[in-house]
Amino acid sequence: MAKTKTTYICQNCGAQSPKWVGKCPACNEWNTFEEEIQETTKDLVGRKVKKSVAKPTKISDITFTEQQRIDTTNNEFNRVLGGGLVPGSLVLIGGEPGIGKSTLALQIAVNLPKHKTLYVSGEESLQQIKLRAERVSIQENNCLVLSETSLENILLSIEEVEPDIIVIDSIQTIATNKSESTAGSVSQIRECTTEIMKYAKENSKPVILIGHINKEGSLAGPKVLEHIVDTVLQFEGDRNHVYRILRATKNRFGSTSELGIFEMQGNGLREVTNPSELLLSQNEEDTSGVSVSATIEGVRPFLIEVQALVSTAAYGTPQRSSTGFDLRRLSMLLAVLEKRAGFKLSVKDVFLNIAGGIRVDDPAIDLAVICSILSSDLDLALPRDVCFAGEIGLSGEIRPVTRVEQRVAEAAKLGFKKIFISKYNKKSSEYSKFKIQVMGVSKVEDVFRTLFRKNN
Ligand code: TYD
Ligand code: MG
Repeated sequence: MAKTKTTYICQNCGAQSPKWVGKCPACNEWNTFEEEIQETTKDLVGRKVKKSVAKPTKISDITFTEQQRIDTTNNEFNRVLGGGLVPGSLVLIGGEPGIGKSTLALQIAVNLPKHKTLYVSGEESLQQIKLRAERVSIQENNCLVLSETSLENILLSIEEVEPDIIVIDSIQTIATNKSESTAGSVSQIRECTTEIMKYAKENSKPVILIGHINKEGSLAGPKVLEHIVDTVLQFEGDRNHVYRILRATKNRFGSTSELGIFEMQGNGLREVTNPSELLLSQNEEDTSGVSVSATIEGVRPFLIEVQALVSTAAYGTPQRSSTGFDLRRLSMLLAVLEKRAGFKLSVKDVFLNIAGGIRVDDPAIDLAVICSILSSDLDLALPRDVCFAGEIGLSGEIRPVTRVEQRVAEAAKLGFKKIFISKYNKKSSEYSKFKIQVMGVSKVEDVFRTLFRKNN
């Protein structure tokens, strides 16, 4: 009889060790090593080898047509994927519990009349899935559901029904009997994902996997999962808000800068096609600390509201807190304001919030961030018809941003009268066709002088 071998595997990064160690030497996490049973050598012998032999081909001889992609009828989802599901691809959707991963996947599965879909859930019973399906808007469909956690049984069902698209909710709940570790452990996840990928590639069928994320916000289990799959999508948002953002962090078949925006409603997720109108608060009053930035995610420009609150620090170290914006970048912008523009913010608490509960990576919102901070600090409201698009450099210079014309066009479309951009952006473009005044500025001081003239 083959001897079973155990090994210790870091549940965070997948590093292996023959002995238990307290701190992972690879990822420096503490207490992540767990004992897992390795495959016996006997198991390895029985593995099948694929018969067809792949031949090296000249790259110029390979043809690829875009029509091969499967249209999921969900425009936001298609956009993030880069135009639809690629046959044979493995798409991983990660996100916090309760954010709406299962809802999104089910909604896609039940709205594809032309394709046979199989929704496998290891978390919910058939009744629970039905209950959810009753809530979301369903069109005519060809969706089969299966409540199962054994990978072997799932693969048998797949062979039997031959679905065009497979959804597995979630990868952490299914287990194969090839590995004796518990479901959700590194070796189980690795084994199951590899098996599923083999099926997907050999049969040219797309598979959507749902993955849990851990408390640090990365996909639970090992990094190996992210390496194996073709596309990693993060579903994020504030659970207390209705907006959800789907963004690609890895995509072998498209850009990773695209965003899909959804609104969680009583009857499932609604696609948000015009984000600007929703992300600007409907507040009619002039409030200090609020400014609007023309931002771009992927190819879509939209306007977003940046809110800041600056108050005198009551005790000791001033607090800096930000929602939807990188905290280190906020510290950098505060240092620039202090050093280059002479504002004493080091004794103040600064809170920053991007409206709508979404996270923005576009550096062009820098200018709006500092204008919000100053507006709150001086308690002077900014004009409501002004918006901003500029990156701030360490010397306080306003740097040009990409695709400024699209930003200006979006601001003009939404009725803004004035937009501040970098002077270097202004040179390169012609704006007279837009009904908006474009102000080219080179230093943060220039902007403040124009906006808060009373104080200068
Ligand atoms: P769910 O898809 O179960 O989240 P996940 O799979 O990421 O854990 O989403 C659950 C939340 O969404 C739950 O709090 C209820 C809410 N919800 C709605 O608001 N409307 C709906 O139509 C559905 C199905 C869920
Ligand atoms: Mg779920």
